[in-house]
Amino acid sequence: MPEDDEHVISHDVRDVTHPDRNLALELVRVTEAGALAAGRWIGRGEKESADGAAVDAMRLMLDTVPMDGIVVIGEGEKDEAPMLFNGEEIGDGSPPVVDIAVDPLEGTTLTARGMPSALSVIALSERGTMFDPGPCVYMEKIATGPRAADVISLTDPLPDVIRRIGERKGGGPEDVTVIMLDRPRHEEAIAQLREVGASIRFISDGDVAASLFAVLPNTGIDLLWGIGGTPEGVLSAAAIKCLGGRILGRLWPRDDGERKAAEDAGYDLTRVLDTDDLVGGNDVFFAATGVTDGDLLDGVRYLDDGHATTESLVMRSRSGTVRRVQATHDRPKLREVVGARYG
Ligand code: FBP
Repeated sequence: MPEDDEHVISHDVRDVTHPDRNLALELVRVTEAGALAAGRWIGRGEKESADGAAVDAMRLMLDTVPMDGIVVIGEGEKDEAPMLFNGEEIGDGSPPVVDIAVDPLEGTTLTARGMPSALSVIALSERGTMFDPGPCVYMEKIATGPRAADVISLTDPLPDVIRRIGERKGGGPEDVTVIMLDRPRHEEAIAQLREVGASIRFISDGDVAASLFAVLPNTGIDLLWGIGGTPEGVLSAAAIKCLGGRILGRLWPRDDGERKAAEDAGYDLTRVLDTDDLVGGNDVFFAATGVTDGDLLDGVRYLDDGHATTESLVMRSRSGTVRRVQATHDRPKLREVVGARYG
């Protein structure tokens, strides 16, 4: 029997009625490392440097995680990405056998410009359960919390969906607040939302944090809608598996070339992907650490004594446990251990 099969089977037959290792608690060290490294680049106008620093720090830390992982959602193809490229094997090779989605810096421009809500993010689920978007960079997305999960749709007109959410809240469309990326491609939807009377909260970047905001209770946001990155869609789905709520996605090719490449690769561009199509696992782990301050998480803070603090969200779908982890990092000590990666 090939070694990999052994791993899959040992994972599948474990006793699910007993607690086992929560990988998310190890993954938070990875996102903390990414955030601390990117944090040194906040407001310096260099988004590639910020991203590169996060990738480098996370990659180092990922090798310490006991897992046999493969990057399904990463920095891109191997030719362009030296590390955390799609298909890269990560971890020390021991079980469990998992898929990995990673965005070392979700919000590169936010970081470079010192704007809110940049995150360092990672998610894991059982091997073969994460959606691989292939050549499709963008996806139309809609996400909401448990209260209105059954009334969202990407095929019904958006105003109808808004009316249904308003009703579910015991009010009307004017009681619904939608968060969306501020992009010209959203012009028609914005006009529809204005017409129906919904309120819109625009963001310049960062639709993973926005998705979480849309599914969490009492944030003042009822719905995320818009065309954004497919990697961010898969990462959001992983978080939503842990938090509850629902995300729907539909691939959105940018041009005829991308459309043909996707169709040639066998993708059905009309298909609406539900949360479980995006991340099908039953044991999903998610960790995110704030890079810049945001509504969801505080960003990295550098203290006068040389320490730094971080705030992270650490979640697991099987148990439904959601943790907020506040950490204080001794940067001089960390530099002794891992060199300058922590800034
Ligand atoms: P980066 O971190 O790669 O810069 O992505 C930020 C982001 O705003 C995502 O949150 C979003 O899904 C995507 O970019 C939208 O893409 P675009 O900026 O091309 O509209």
